[in-house]
Amino acid sequence: MKDRQRTETSAVPMLEVRELQSRYGRIRALKKVSVTVHGGELVALVGANGAGKTTLMRAISGVQPITGGRILFEGKDISRMNAAARVRLGIVQVPEGRRVFGAMTVEDNLRLGAISRSKNEEEEGLERAYDLFPRLKDRRRQLAGTLSGGEQQMLAIGRALMAKPRLLLMDEPSMGLSPLLVDQTFEIIQKLAAEGMTIFLVEQNAYVALSIATRGYVLEGGVTTLDGSGEALLHDPRVKEAYLGV
Ligand SMILES: Nc1ncnc2c1ncn2[C@@H]1O[C@H](COP(=O)(O)OP(=O)(O)OP(=O)(O)O)[C@@H](O)[C@H]1O
Ligand SMILES: [Mg+2]
Repeated sequence: MKDRQRTETSAVPMLEVRELQSRYGRIRALKKVSVTVHGGELVALVGANGAGKTTLMRAISGVQPITGGRILFEGKDISRMNAAARVRLGIVQVPEGRRVFGAMTVEDNLRLGAISRSKNEEEEGLERAYDLFPRLKDRRRQLAGTLSGGEQQMLAIGRALMAKPRLLLMDEPSMGLSPLLVDQTFEIIQKLAAEGMTIFLVEQNAYVALSIATRGYVLEGGVTTLDGSGEALLHDPRVKEAYLGV
């Protein structure tokens, strides 16, 4: 009986997005999006420009209003919870386009990520971020605006980690990076996943995203149309034709 209870408890997904809808005025950006992320999973959602990926991430973070459907976190409906409260629950997003504060130092950018955390947690987080990204440690007094694109990506990830995420949301981490930096960024994402971090990432770069994902989804015109293991989607003819150019 005890065992059964335990199984049932662990079967509650960390994140469940059910038939989500969201619009910008008359534009329906999300029409029917359903996604499940279990604790410890690395789930990738791939889709073309304008498919609704950023809108979905912003809706999960609580900064984009929804007009239908539900968002559950560990079984609890958070659809109406404000963004700050979601961060306190551990839902933390690395925004699209990195968006670091250019006129602030690397270290101050990192510290900002820990704004909802205690001073102790802030210091621990800083140590951990520098551990993960030694380049940031070397540049901690440098203004973030003078970092290279890849370094800014590291900073944006480091800053998100400072908030002690339980669910890390990443919006196109490969955007604007050279192939080498894309590889490096995805290595870091894999490393975080291997350490047990639950990650939901959206990407236009279907190949790299599905290659490292446990499971994946395809988003087309605001609708999740396909799902499966990362491996299965990589070999799905529909994905190959539309997103992998083969
Ligand atoms: N602020 C806005 N006002 C009006 N329409 C918007 C706004 N933001 C996004 N849209 C529209 O909503 C749709 C989904 O946009 P979204 O940014 O979510 O796509 P995306 O999948 O992230 O694309 P990309 O790969 O280019 O980042 C698009 O048709 C877009 O034009
Ligand atoms: Mg986007």
